Amino acid sequence: MNFFIKNCKLDKEKTDCIVVPVFDLCELSHSGCYLDKCSNGYITSLIKLGDIQGKIGDTLMLYKIPKIFSKRILLVGCGKKDEINKVHLKKIFKNTINILKKLSIKNVIYSLSELNINNNIYWMIRIAVLSIKEFLYKVIKINNTNVDNINIDYITLDISKKNNLFIAEIALKHALAIDYAITSAKNLSNLPPNICNPLYLSRKAKELSEKYKNNIIVEVIDIKKMKELGMNAYAAVGDGAKNKPFMSVIKYSGNNIINNKTIAFVGKGLTFDSGGISIKPSFNMHEMKYDMCGAAAVYGVLIMAAELNLPLKIIGILSGCENMPGGYAFRPGDVLTTMSGKTVEILNTDAEGRLVLCDSLTYLERFSPNIVIDIATLTGACVTALGESVSGLFSNNQELANQLHYASEETDDKIWSLPLFEEYQKKLISNIADFSNVGQGQAGAITAACFLSKFTKKYNWAHLDIAGTAWKSGKNGGSTGRPVELLCQFLLNQSNYIYS
Ligand code: BES
Ligand code: MN
Ligand code: ZN
Repeated sequence: MNFFIKNCKLDKEKTDCIVVPVFDLCELSHSGCYLDKCSNGYITSLIKLGDIQGKIGDTLMLYKIPKIFSKRILLVGCGKKDEINKVHLKKIFKNTINILKKLSIKNVIYSLSELNINNNIYWMIRIAVLSIKEFLYKVIKINNTNVDNINIDYITLDISKKNNLFIAEIALKHALAIDYAITSAKNLSNLPPNICNPLYLSRKAKELSEKYKNNIIVEVIDIKKMKELGMNAYAAVGDGAKNKPFMSVIKYSGNNIINNKTIAFVGKGLTFDSGGISIKPSFNMHEMKYDMCGAAAVYGVLIMAAELNLPLKIIGILSGCENMPGGYAFRPGDVLTTMSGKTVEILNTDAEGRLVLCDSLTYLERFSPNIVIDIATLTGACVTALGESVSGLFSNNQELANQLHYASEETDDKIWSLPLFEEYQKKLISNIADFSNVGQGQAGAITAACFLSKFTKKYNWAHLDIAGTAWKSGKNGGSTGRPVELLCQFLLNQSNYIYS
C-alpha cells in the first residue's frame, strides 16, 4: 500500500473511490460541494433522503455519480466542523478504511484536507497515515500463511490548497518513517521467546548497522565483556538461562548535526521473564515474552531516526536478557556489586528489570549523554496505578519531563508523572548492602524508579514505565508499539523541524 499527496481535480480523477466529509446537519465539505455541483446536485439529492446525518461514524457509499469519473464516493460523517480533534480524526480514518477494505477497491482518494485541526495539515496527514496503518496491522504468523488483508494499493491524500503541498509532503515522510518504526517494534515484540532471545535482539541491532552503514555503528557486549566491565547485576539476571544476555549499543549520528548533544535511550529487553527463583504464577506467564517491549521501542525509534536522517547524535541500548530459574540462577539473598560500585541485596529475583537497567545506565556514562530516557515494562504496580492507557513518567529534570509531556500531548500517546520524593527513596533500605532491589510497602512503580534514580545522577534522565501500555492481552492482543510515536515526536521536536 502506497500513500501519495496530490492537489486533485476531483471530478476528473479516474479512481475507485473518493472519500468526502459530511459535517453535522448534512453540511457538505468544500470538496463535497464541488463534486455536487459537477454532478448537478446528485449528491445533495441523495443526502436529502436522510440516510446520513453527518455524525462521526456515519457513512454512505454512492455509486454511478453523474459526470464524476470516480466509480464511487464515500460520504463520511465528521461531526461538528469546529469541534474535530485528533481522537475524532483517528476514528474517522479507521471507520472509512474498515468499509473500503471489504470492497474491491485498489485506488482511493481521501479528500479530507478540510479536517485540518487548528489549520494544521501536518497533523491531518500524520493521523491519516498512522491510524490507517494501525488499523490494518496484523501479527505475523509463524507458518508462512501471511496474506495481505487489503486490496488497496494506492491511497491519495488530496490537498485542496496548493500552498499546503510542501508541508503535506513533509508530514507524509514523517508519518511513513514513524509507521516503519512502530511496525518494526511491534513485529519484534510479538515474536515468541524461543525465536526472539537476547542473541536475536543483538542480531536485529547489527542489521541496522548494515542497512544504515553511513549513520549507525553497533557494538554488542556479551556476558564475558559484561563481567569484565563489572556489570554484575545485569550478568547475574542472565546466569540462570541457557540463552545468554547480550547488550546491544546502537550509535547513530546524523549527517548535519545541529548540536553536540547526545540523546540516549535504554530499553529493557527481557525476552522472557519467568521471575527466576522468585518464580511467577503460571497464569498468563506467556505474556512475559513482551518484557522486551522497551528494547523493541528503542529499536524502532532508531530506525525512524535513520530513515529521516535526523540531525542528532543518538545512542540506543537494547538490554537483552532472559530471567530463568535453575542451578546457575542468582538467588534471593545474594548481594551483587553493580558497575557503579554500589551493592544491591536481592530480595526478589523477579525485580530483575532494574538490575539489568542499572548497569546499562552506568555503562552509558562513558558517552557523556545530555539526556537519557529508559523505557521498561518495569512494574505491575504501574499498571495498578495508571491502568492500560497511560504510561508512567519519572524524571530528575523538569524541563525534560515537560518536553516528554509535550510530545505525549501532540501524539495522544499518554503519560503521567509520578514523584521521586525522598520518602520513597528510603524504602530501598538494606542492612547488608547499599540498598535492596525491592522497596518496602506500597508504591512499587515509584520505588522501582527510585532504584534507577540512584544510577542516573550524571545526566538528565527520564524513565517510562510501560508495563500497562506496551501490549494488549488476549487472542486479539499483541504489542501496541507504544511509546514509539511519543519518542519519535520527542526527537522530531529536538531536531527543530518546522511543520506548521
Ligand atoms: N516484567 C515485570 C513487570 C510486569 C508485570 C509487567 C506484569 C507487566 C505485567 C517485572 O520484572 C516484575 O516482575 N516486577 C515485579 C517487581 C516486584 C517483584 C517488586 C512486579 O511488578 O511484581
Ligand atoms: Mn520480573
Ligand atoms: Zn520483568
